[in-house]
Amino acid sequence: MAVRKLLLAAVRKHWLAVTGGTILMVALALIGLVPPLIMRSIVDEAIPSGSLATLAARALLLIGLYAGCSVLSLVSSTLFVVTSQKILHEVRRSVFRHMVSLPLEILEKNQTGYLTARMSEITALGPLFGSGAFKTVVSALEFVGVLIIILTLNVPLTFVLLAFLPAFYVATRYVSGGYRRTSKALFQTGGLMSGKLQETFQGMSEVKSLGLEDKRAGEAIRLSSEVARVGIKQGQVAIFGTEAMILIGSLVSTSLLFFSGRGIIAGTFTLGGYLAFSAYVGKVLGPFSYVMTYAQTIQPALGALDRLDEFLRETTERTRYAGKPAVARVERVEFRDVAFTYPARPEKLALAGLSLDLRRPGVVCLVGPNGAGKSTVVRLLLGYYTTYQGEIMINGRELRDLDVLAWRRKVAIVSQEPFLFDGTVRENLELVEGIDGGGALERLNGNTAVATLVARLPQALDTPVGEGGRRLSGGQRQIVAVLRALLREAEVVIFDEATAHLDAEVKDVLRGAIRTLFVGKLCLVITHDSTLATVGDVTVHLEDGRVVGTETSAGEPAPVTG
Ligand SMILES: Nc1ncnc2c1ncn2[C@@H]1O[C@H](COP(=O)(O)OP(=O)(O)O)[C@@H](O)[C@H]1O
Ligand SMILES: [Mg+2]
Repeated sequence: MAVRKLLLAAVRKHWLAVTGGTILMVALALIGLVPPLIMRSIVDEAIPSGSLATLAARALLLIGLYAGCSVLSLVSSTLFVVTSQKILHEVRRSVFRHMVSLPLEILEKNQTGYLTARMSEITALGPLFGSGAFKTVVSALEFVGVLIIILTLNVPLTFVLLAFLPAFYVATRYVSGGYRRTSKALFQTGGLMSGKLQETFQGMSEVKSLGLEDKRAGEAIRLSSEVARVGIKQGQVAIFGTEAMILIGSLVSTSLLFFSGRGIIAGTFTLGGYLAFSAYVGKVLGPFSYVMTYAQTIQPALGALDRLDEFLRETTERTRYAGKPAVARVERVEFRDVAFTYPARPEKLALAGLSLDLRRPGVVCLVGPNGAGKSTVVRLLLGYYTTYQGEIMINGRELRDLDVLAWRRKVAIVSQEPFLFDGTVRENLELVEGIDGGGALERLNGNTAVATLVARLPQALDTPVGEGGRRLSGGQRQIVAVLRALLREAEVVIFDEATAHLDAEVKDVLRGAIRTLFVGKLCLVITHDSTLATVGDVTVHLEDGRVVGTETSAGEPAPVTG
């Protein structure tokens, strides 16, 4: 399991603390074996001897042992609390890094709410590294030690106790099994529920304008009733298990009382022996009650592990492209007879044998009706999907054999609905790689085209954009995206319906910008706008996933593509 490997690596990083804590716990378990024996000697020897001094000495010894146990327990538990949090942090770090580097084709299969629910579930792994997990192991060791001691105290009584163990075992199995099943269902359904809610909140203005409040809430509510149903089942398992344990425990103590009493009457057993024996009973049952208790906290963790594993087994893009050659200066981008269907829509060809030959420097316009496949060209060019047929060649080498992550840094996109991160425009621009905040921004400051664009933002670069950019108008968001593309200093710049929300003046600025600011680059301009469509050296017409015509800026058919 990929996730096991990741957990082991995290634990190994803190092996010293874990080993130290475990040693302390074993010491604690060993010391804990002694007090019942002292209790026996007090009842069977010190009290009958009539010596107050002996009684006081043994009582003091008992107090000393208990105090020692407390100190050890305090130290080891603290150690585990600190270490488990550090290990969790380690796990979160690895998982976050892994998740964001997964290919889009895998992430897209899940709703974002589902993905974030999986991420926050990592916290549920805590009990796996807490002192509870190690106490369960230590209690199993203790079990063996106690068994040896009680056999020396009273053999028949030990067998009476052992006769009850199968019942404890069955009850423990029942609870941990029930918890495993129900927790898995709870987390799964809970994740789907938060996915639905998140999607609803993201599309709140559509939800309101379409009057979908009740329908959308209804879907989450239906999932909530499923959560409640499974929650009840889980509660019942816990109640039944606890009651069964209490009942079996009462049977054990009554049986022990009866058989000890018989032994004491017959003179084969002592009152002190009974007292010590009873004290050990708790330790014999320790492993069962620990497993029972921790089943309730560990089962959710195990379930979380399973679900994380789904994602951790997938290869990240970081791994997929590690060691592959990076693209040098971009000269030529070709699509050779590329056919592609989206995994989510296997019956429809999004691209059907598309060929394009793009040279740098140059401006190529891509036009065509909705659904023609224009944006798909962009997504494939960025290496978001790798399952296409045919070839996408960068400088004559297939994209899939190149370092796609490095390639993406050479490409800047201005899309129809650019996504901005919560913060100011400046913060969004500074996020872009290779930007030393002020420096690059200031270099752009002197440019009049840039100044016109920035002037359209209410508070210039200090304009807050809101989550996703929703405090800006569509046009303002596109302006930020254009600035972002400028700062990227990319070699390939793609405008995907980038003028959709722009007014005539800004459109003009952008038209000029493509010719001046992005000079020397390979620009791909996807547009419906007839004025912008003339910006290209070449215009390529797309329909139904293939090229249906090409013309040069002079209006002549060009032999560039087929
Ligand atoms: N993520 C997706 N999953 C499934 N089908 C998609 C996806 N994105 C686009 N499509 C489909 O692929 C075809 C081409 O879409 P697209 O390239 O976005 O067209 P456009 O030319 O309007 O940009 C359309 O039929 C569209 O419905
Ligand atoms: Mg599109």
